[in-house]
Amino acid sequence: MNFETIILEEKGHICLITLNRPDKLNALNATLLNELQKALQFCADSEKCRAIIITGSGPKAFAAGADIAQLHEQNAETGGDFARFGQAVFTSLEYMRKPVIAAVNGFALGGGCELALSCHMRFAAPGAKFGQPEVNLGIIPGYGGTQRLTKLVGSAKATELILTGNIINAEEAIRIGLVNNIFTAETLLEECMNIAELIATKAPLAISGSLAAIRSAIDCSTSEGMESEALHFGEICGTEDFKEGTLAFLEKRQANFKGL
Ligand code: COA
Repeated sequence: MNFETIILEEKGHICLITLNRPDKLNALNATLLNELQKALQFCADSEKCRAIIITGSGPKAFAAGADIAQLHEQNAETGGDFARFGQAVFTSLEYMRKPVIAAVNGFALGGGCELALSCHMRFAAPGAKFGQPEVNLGIIPGYGGTQRLTKLVGSAKATELILTGNIINAEEAIRIGLVNNIFTAETLLEECMNIAELIATKAPLAISGSLAAIRSAIDCSTSEGMESEALHFGEICGTEDFKEGTLAFLEKRQANFKGL
């Protein structure tokens, strides 16, 4: 697929999406959000794709936020829908039944941080910078930051970051639980590929069931979450890959998963 503001590459079972406006630090304009949505739909529909990695092009940025030129045009009539559109794209990402990894290679600010927060895991280069600096622009986070950052790092830390607009480095991000791990800038993508490829060796329906049940831990009460886990567990007990995985163990051989 050809895009103007992103690059979508298929690398075996992994789809790599690169945000590609390096001269604007990969700022998220309407075209980019539309194209990201289309790319995600492609990944969701692809039988081959088992995991997705999102990164930014250029050495400086993952994404430096919503495009401030487009943001500036908003008013009381349009602002709500401006936020809702970004939220919808990021929510479809968050609810993907295939794992999405953010490879954060530089600035992840405002909408860029919110994009990383919508991914299932975040890995960062040592020079990555995270923050929700919207208050510096006289606005609040609008692509889910108030909700996802609060759920991920807790209300005290999220409130501090959102109200001060402070930017934190990768070490601090890992300390507060915002990122999973730090890899050198040179190996970040390769390490993320390794993690994605490892996941791609597992039974795809067990991966998507795990994602859905984990999602329930974020969205539901514990009892609802337990029921969701039991439902997915039961469903997966009916799959060919479950029989294959358990039989392969008993026969002391490698399982051959087919996604069925
Ligand atoms: N929207 C639109 N353009 C952006 C942008 C954004 N969020 N972030 C950076 N850019 C553009 C700059 O305007 C500049 O374009 P130009 O060369 O045509 O003037 C280009 O990207 C490079 O940015 P620049 O500011 O020159 O780089 P820097 O290294 O000096 O600073 C940042 C980097 C990230 C500190 C700075 O760009 C910044 O503060 N960006 C905005 C971050 C933000 O507030 N995000 C939240 C938005 S809701």
